[in-house]
Amino acid sequence: MRKVFVTGGAGFIGSAFVKLLLDESDDWFITNFDALTYAGNLENLTGLDENRHHFIRGDIADRDAVTQALENDCEAIVNFAAESHVDRSITSADDFLRTNVTGTQILLDAARAKGVKRFVQVSTDEVMGSLPEDDASFFTEDSPFAPNSPYAASKAAAEHLVRAAHHTFGLDTVVTRCGNNYGPRQFPEKFLPLAIANAMNDQTIPVYGDGMNVRDWIYVEDHCRAILAVMEKGKPGRVYNIGARNPRRNLEVVQSLLDALGKPHSLLRFVTDRLGHDRRYAIDPSLIEAELDWRPRETWASGLAKTIAWYRENNRWLENTRSGAYRDYYRLQYGTEVNAS
Ligand code: NAD
Ligand code: DAU
Repeated sequence: MRKVFVTGGAGFIGSAFVKLLLDESDDWFITNFDALTYAGNLENLTGLDENRHHFIRGDIADRDAVTQALENDCEAIVNFAAESHVDRSITSADDFLRTNVTGTQILLDAARAKGVKRFVQVSTDEVMGSLPEDDASFFTEDSPFAPNSPYAASKAAAEHLVRAAHHTFGLDTVVTRCGNNYGPRQFPEKFLPLAIANAMNDQTIPVYGDGMNVRDWIYVEDHCRAILAVMEKGKPGRVYNIGARNPRRNLEVVQSLLDALGKPHSLLRFVTDRLGHDRRYAIDPSLIEAELDWRPRETWASGLAKTIAWYRENNRWLENTRSGAYRDYYRLQYGTEVNAS
């Protein structure tokens, strides 16, 4: 068995990656290490083969817990664990520094101590800041760091630590930088599942500012296949941008969603803009396409249809995540109740 230590595997992308690994080959044995914060959900892991998947509740910023959980002879650590929501980082950056920065360094130290063969850092296009609105510029692997939110700054800091571990200690590291994921099991604080949940309940959808911000959308399984390709075939020390060549304005995203759900555009509400809101992300994925022969399988239409179908069929999952602490978060963030019309 090839052992992989996945962190944050009870979250949105991490759980999709765990499922992909188990589906792709019988060779993998996964230790899934996740603190189960508000974003982690054991329901995301139901039905997995227990002979090849072992869940441990633990915190990547807890050195003893990581040392105890990480076995020798691991093929790879794949680090998904993070505080991942920009708006929450604007309210308070504390947890972002602890998990995203300190946690990453602790994992790097443990990887060296236990002889892990490869360290995969799941990073984000947001470390490169915001692009001009000219439709002609794209993020490449050589784009300079320019993180604009506390979240992005913490992810950039983590990347620096990964780079330093490679340069100073010769640790085999690879970094992936992806854009906005969408798909099943995304926590409904993020724009797309929030909009789907609200629209399905005939509630208004808050659109920040003028709605003209551009994000580069990718179906979560396509992102995970790209991470797998980088884990298996990426060059040591390299950064790989991951994108499906699918940049869209937020307004267009909500409108296509409302059309697909058969809901009126009048559900859309412009609200106060996010502080420091990055205007445009667009990724040039040429390197991963050429070097690792990776391509996305889903189009925007097929990915969105699958996503909407999943939320329709899993209303219980959605309503469970929208209860309890989510209601307090929503009130604080949007100044209205989660189920206000
Ligand atoms: P998520 O918020 O859905 O999940 C994060 C997971 O990490 C949760 O299961 C949570 O319990 C766990 N976690 C948080 N703090 C932890 C800690 N201290 N120790 C152990 N586990 C902890 O996030 P996501 O959207 O699935 O993102 C996963 C990774 O991918 C993140 O590193 C994020 O920066 C990166 N990323 C996300 C996107 C996106 O569009 N969502 C795009 C590019 C990169
Ligand atoms: O680009 C990759 C990043 O994408 C990841 O690194 C982050 O973890 C992930 O959260 C995501 O960040 P964004 O800030 O782009 O995603 P979010 O879903 O929060 O917002 C998408 C866009 O929609 C953004 O322009 C802000 C806007 N938005 C968001 C929310 C929550 C709204 O207009 N209204 C909202 O209520």
